[in-house]
Amino acid sequence: MHGTVSGSKLAFTLNGQDVVLQTAQGLRLSQVLREQLGARDIKIGCNAGDCGACSVLLNGENVCACLVSAEQADGQRVETVAGLVETDADARRLAESFQNHGAAQCGICTPGMIVAAVALLRDIPQPDEIQIQEALGGVLCRCTGYRKIIDAVADVPATLKGDGNVGSSIRKLDGWAKVSGREAFGDDVAPQGTLEIAVIRSPFARAAFRFDNLDAWLADQIGIATILTAADVPGKNCFGVIPAFADQPVFAETEARFRGEAVAAVVGTPEAIRAFKPENFPVIWTELESVASVSEARTAGAPELHPGRAGNLMCAGLVKTGDAAAALAAADVHVEGSFRTGFVEHAYIEPEAGFAQLVDGRVEIHACTQAPVMDREAMEIILGMDSSRIRIVPTGVGGGFGAKLDISVQPYLALGALKTGKPVRLTYSRSESMQSSTKRHPAEITLRIGAKSDGRISGFDFFGAFNTGAYASWGPTVANRVPVHASGPYRIEDYRAESNGVHTHCPPSGAFRGFGVPQSAIAQEALFDELAAKLGIDPLEFRILNALEDNMPTVCGQVFKQGVGIKACLEALRPAWLKARAEVEAFNAAATGSMRRGVGIAAGWYGCGNTSLPNPSTIRAGVKADGRVVLHQGAMDIGQGANTVICQIFSSALGLPVTAIEIIGADTDITPDAGKTSASRQTFVSGNAAKLCGEALRALILRQANASPESSLKLDAGAVVVHDGDRTHRIDLGKLPAGDLGYVFDVAETYDPPTKPLDENGQGVPYAQFGYAAQLAIVEVDTALGTVKPLSFVAAHDVGRAINPLLVEGQVHGGIAQGLGMALMEEYLPGRSENLHDYLIPTIGDVPPIETLIIEVPDAHGPYGAKGLGEHVLIPTAPALLNAIRDATGVSMREVPVTPSRLRAAIRKAAS
Ligand code: FES
Repeated sequence: MHGTVSGSKLAFTLNGQDVVLQTAQGLRLSQVLREQLGARDIKIGCNAGDCGACSVLLNGENVCACLVSAEQADGQRVETVAGLVETDADARRLAESFQNHGAAQCGICTPGMIVAAVALLRDIPQPDEIQIQEALGGVLCRCTGYRKIIDAVADVPATLKGDGNVGSSIRKLDGWAKVSGREAFGDDVAPQGTLEIAVIRSPFARAAFRFDNLDAWLADQIGIATILTAADVPGKNCFGVIPAFADQPVFAETEARFRGEAVAAVVGTPEAIRAFKPENFPVIWTELESVASVSEARTAGAPELHPGRAGNLMCAGLVKTGDAAAALAAADVHVEGSFRTGFVEHAYIEPEAGFAQLVDGRVEIHACTQAPVMDREAMEIILGMDSSRIRIVPTGVGGGFGAKLDISVQPYLALGALKTGKPVRLTYSRSESMQSSTKRHPAEITLRIGAKSDGRISGFDFFGAFNTGAYASWGPTVANRVPVHASGPYRIEDYRAESNGVHTHCPPSGAFRGFGVPQSAIAQEALFDELAAKLGIDPLEFRILNALEDNMPTVCGQVFKQGVGIKACLEALRPAWLKARAEVEAFNAAATGSMRRGVGIAAGWYGCGNTSLPNPSTIRAGVKADGRVVLHQGAMDIGQGANTVICQIFSSALGLPVTAIEIIGADTDITPDAGKTSASRQTFVSGNAAKLCGEALRALILRQANASPESSLKLDAGAVVVHDGDRTHRIDLGKLPAGDLGYVFDVAETYDPPTKPLDENGQGVPYAQFGYAAQLAIVEVDTALGTVKPLSFVAAHDVGRAINPLLVEGQVHGGIAQGLGMALMEEYLPGRSENLHDYLIPTIGDVPPIETLIIEVPDAHGPYGAKGLGEHVLIPTAPALLNAIRDATGVSMREVPVTPSRLRAAIRKAAS
């Protein structure tokens, strides 16, 4: 291999192959390997040595390739995951083991994990858990919760089982690409040397700005092809995921409303973009008064962000039933509290990235996304271009968790390609990703709950103000969803819950696993423990007493005749709860120093799919003349396993093995709309479409053979063989006429969950199904320092039917890790924690053992009874931890994250 850039001449071995190349001086090793040598199995998460995704072995030593200069590799030996899994026995074993354990979800961290693990295994062939944690401690994973990774490295026997049908724990069908580094994410798809884009962003929370002479500045630049500003937006300079609230410009026009808002961009050669300094761009800023919190924004006279949204109130939500005030007045005991949560950053390891080009007069955008069809709709408006001229081809997604539902790099890519006529690429730096992407809404919640002396809830009055930042994003969804869920999965007759979405000069808050429900659950579940204590009732039994059951109305008046699984979840926790309580009591009774232990439980529920709105999915499948069965699976797999789960459902309905199915992923040209990957809807909604599609394809084949519904199918060299009792029919596929896509059998089926609008009091049918969860956490608190160490979790989740139990466990682990981060360490502060060393997410040493109890209370609407799961897994975690902290210390924390300083201050205050 030979590079072409002038500068240093380097020679080293890359995965055993000699490499000689010329390279510019001062480049990172990661840059040279990826961009000059095409080694895109090395993934870039931060370019600062914080995430470890770019780990490689340099002379056998594990290093972050982003921290090593290319010159340091001269004369040395470099090994990367792609080479290792080909030739190294340890790496090969790890690649298999990662797949068997479901240890790779999105897969962006996996190359780094495997490289770090190879280095460990060469040193210590049979490492223990502590050694694994130490060796892999420099590699961050946002998806898995690390426990599966530890098991995979320790070579714990895997529990794969089943034949691939629904209910089987099988490996991910797309697992090899992830463990070998071959999965192509947003930054991996552009050809070498493509023009690049740099975005100029506001350094202030609020500022007026104007440009100096842009033409004169551009004329002085070498390698900068063009400048993009609002003036270059041919359509509407506005986007937003909810059309009625769309309010965000691609480029601010005269005033930036949050730190990190884009005002312009430059397009140039890679060298020019590398040398470009945003501070040299001719923009003149005037900082203006800004508001950062809900209370500031709601103060009379505060600057208003958007016309027509008086007092910065974006929208409000309400659910009301019975008479909360009267019930509270009649209650025997009350509890109340004010709670606060902060911004939480998604911190996916893959920053937003993509590539665009013009093909036959059309714009083609290849980027990481959770919602390709929504992206196309947004681009249609921004570009003022018919949607038939826009193609969205999603790349691999290195974690999304909600934020990649909003467009990010897409408009800059499209505008850059259109203006230059050339392919362009853009990858956000870690800090611009953190500055500009959406966050979990900070919440300020007040809640009052009453109960009768028999333990029944009597009155519930909730108000939550949610900081939605500068633009609406998913704020209206949060405002509508929270009042529906704030009760938790309990029977509450007299209820009032109101929410406000409030604009501030902060980054837009959007969708993040749970859409506001994790915040409301913190308040509700914490106060439930306090209420149980006042009543002298065991916290678990108090929840069971008040738990929703079949045929009981929810706070929206919705009555499920079946499928309400919260009681089953809570009861499943009872043995672990009783054991943990006894152990914790014994520990504390014997404790003499500052260490105390506590155990807490919390429950949660989550309505799957859009709130009272249509959200259909369509799945298409066909059989080719050569016997290939092709599934057009447009449900974005962002690591959760949609490719595998949807395929398992489809193949079960069709009656052919999952290994016979070929998947075509999302692509707006060739795959129908399976909706967005959000709101825990893919297994439920797209799963139903896949089931219908499998059944329809089966019916078509059986009709061709005039066979009975009980017949079995088999593929055999260009034919489908149908066994119908003792008769056998052979359908020779090559003899059948083929349609446009070459399919001799071709079906597409759509499913849309039945919901009904909510009335002015929030009464109606918001969701066709809910999923349910209850978790138990044990913690150890150093009451002198205020540090909290989670020791273990037990998580009971009602998934209706586990389509793939291995993937269910993976979701539970990942959700608990994110809930732990939210509870104990994560808070995004604009201007202060815009990187992964100041913004802390859980590392491999932070997540304790997790026992997952899979509960299956089937749902009549779910495919094979399945319910959604992705959001549910995080909801009970933070309140379970808060309740465990209270159990350990006697202190009720009202603010997350519970940092050591906050907890220590609260313990001291309580003691005084
Ligand atoms: Fe580790 Fe996604 S699997 S970051």
